[in-house]
Amino acid sequence: MASSLAVCRLNMRGRGSLLKWLKQVDTCLHRTIGTHVAAARERKGCKSLYAVEAERQEQAERSVLISCPTRTNEKKFLKFLSRHGDINKYFFYESYGMYAVVEFANRESISSLFEAAAVPSISHESMVPFKSRLLSLRNLGLADSPNSPNKLSGQLQTSIPINELIQRLSREESMDQQITFLTDVHQLTEENSRLRFLVCSLLQDIAAAYFPECTIKPFGSSVNGFGKLGCDLDMILHLDDISGKYAKMPKSDMRLEFQMKRVNSERAVTQTILTVIGDCVDQFGPGCVGVQKILKARCPLVRFSHQPSGFQCDLTANNRVAMKSTELLYLYGELDPRVRHLVFTVRCWARAHGVTSSIPGAWITNFSLTIMVMFFLQTRSPPIIPTLDHLRDLAGPADKSVIEGNDCTFVSDFSKIRLQSNTQTQEKLLWEFFEFYSTFAFNSMSISIRKGKEQGKPELAPLHIQNPFEISLNVSKNVNAMQLERFVALCQESAWLLQQGEANKPKGGNEGKASTPWGLAALLMPSKVTGIKGRKKKRREPASERIKSLLESLKITK
Ligand code: GTP
Ligand code: MG
Repeated sequence: MASSLAVCRLNMRGRGSLLKWLKQVDTCLHRTIGTHVAAARERKGCKSLYAVEAERQEQAERSVLISCPTRTNEKKFLKFLSRHGDINKYFFYESYGMYAVVEFANRESISSLFEAAAVPSISHESMVPFKSRLLSLRNLGLADSPNSPNKLSGQLQTSIPINELIQRLSREESMDQQITFLTDVHQLTEENSRLRFLVCSLLQDIAAAYFPECTIKPFGSSVNGFGKLGCDLDMILHLDDISGKYAKMPKSDMRLEFQMKRVNSERAVTQTILTVIGDCVDQFGPGCVGVQKILKARCPLVRFSHQPSGFQCDLTANNRVAMKSTELLYLYGELDPRVRHLVFTVRCWARAHGVTSSIPGAWITNFSLTIMVMFFLQTRSPPIIPTLDHLRDLAGPADKSVIEGNDCTFVSDFSKIRLQSNTQTQEKLLWEFFEFYSTFAFNSMSISIRKGKEQGKPELAPLHIQNPFEISLNVSKNVNAMQLERFVALCQESAWLLQQGEANKPKGGNEGKASTPWGLAALLMPSKVTGIKGRKKKRREPASERIKSLLESLKITK
């Protein structure tokens, strides 16, 4: 069946070719500024998040994940697998070893593959007999010699290190290009996105032992358009189809009901489900390690590492509001390319300066920061994105959604949204973002993307960002005064650097060589801001001096 291989080769070898390829497939997004009119036209063709998810889930169900020795001969490997059916797509990636994701054209191929796969026999140890679509290739003559040029190579699933990013950014021609480049190299690749859905699908197979009709879907930055390579994989276990069954039943004066155990709250149900699924993942899930059940959290979850993909996973259940937030952020990101570009840039800037962290604490989270960017874009004149209230007003009857008493309704048809004509460049917007939050009245005002206007602060927390759907909640109540001050001081510093023009492109060509950090690259360099007080002193220091000393600290060769 080798001749029937309809293989789309995705195992690209360099980031250059990856970027070129991404540009070809990403028809929904414009990368250049000033194209917002064209982007609005194309928006009609953009897929809803549900459509994207349905396609990815279906692909994932026809896919397998195979650990391969690096000396595997690619051609022989594909010929071997195609005995079980046509292969639609495949790619290799590296994560503590080489892995292949193989998507068959038909699901039957998976059953055929399972019939042919053996249970490993190892002396002194026993196997937990759970068969999954995570397999290992054993080379019994398929391997090439160690010196063969056919060694497999796969993409790394991590983002570019900050020092390398600074150097690459410095070679761009304009700040707008820098911002676009940063998004291009940070955003999830097609392959990484497929891998995320495949991991969900593998876990769904485990959960299906108890709940055959359940689905496990990604949410958060894995699917909202703001995910950076290496971000965690947030997953949600859906049981809605199970509880909603009666609605589809024919009318009759009799009906049968399932007998079910009763507990005293929805939260207790979620905790019970996550307890057993957490145990299953721990005991039976191949490649799932470090399973922690965090059931007392406001949103109970099971946390673990999925070693074959390298993803840090958070599995929640019954978290429909988070799905709505994901859908809303996705929609905003699709409305105008500048939205995603600014979010990626601000998130990267915040991470570079320790404003955000992967460790939970009093830091601003990426989610809060994203809401802050949305709010800022709503306050431009004219606004770049509409308020959530406006999106609710545009909603049709099918969009109505009330979750636990919270109105989560907003329009799902992108073509109903009319954007105003704002032509600001990305560079200008970034500068204005820093200006805006340098002077925002955090002590008295709250950020609300529902209204798109600052509101009086209802509580004493230093930073108040209204939860878009649970409006009485503050998504940033964890942030302490010191972290907020630091954020403001860094905004002031960055705005000042841009205003001084010190971040302008240095004169003289330096193609191919490491360049003096300028523009966005200069903003990502380590800051001297330690607190609000330090800022006044620093203002007197010439920016060129600062950049010089920062350069030395990074030891970048000019
Ligand atoms: P990164 O993982 O940092 O890339 O971003 P993320 O958007 O995925 O954030 P995170 O993993 O912390 O949370 C996942 C999702 O949960 C978010 O995208 C939101 O939809 C939701 N979420 C996170 N924090 C909050 C919060 O404080 N309130 C509400 N309502 N939802 C939240
Ligand atoms: Mg996340």
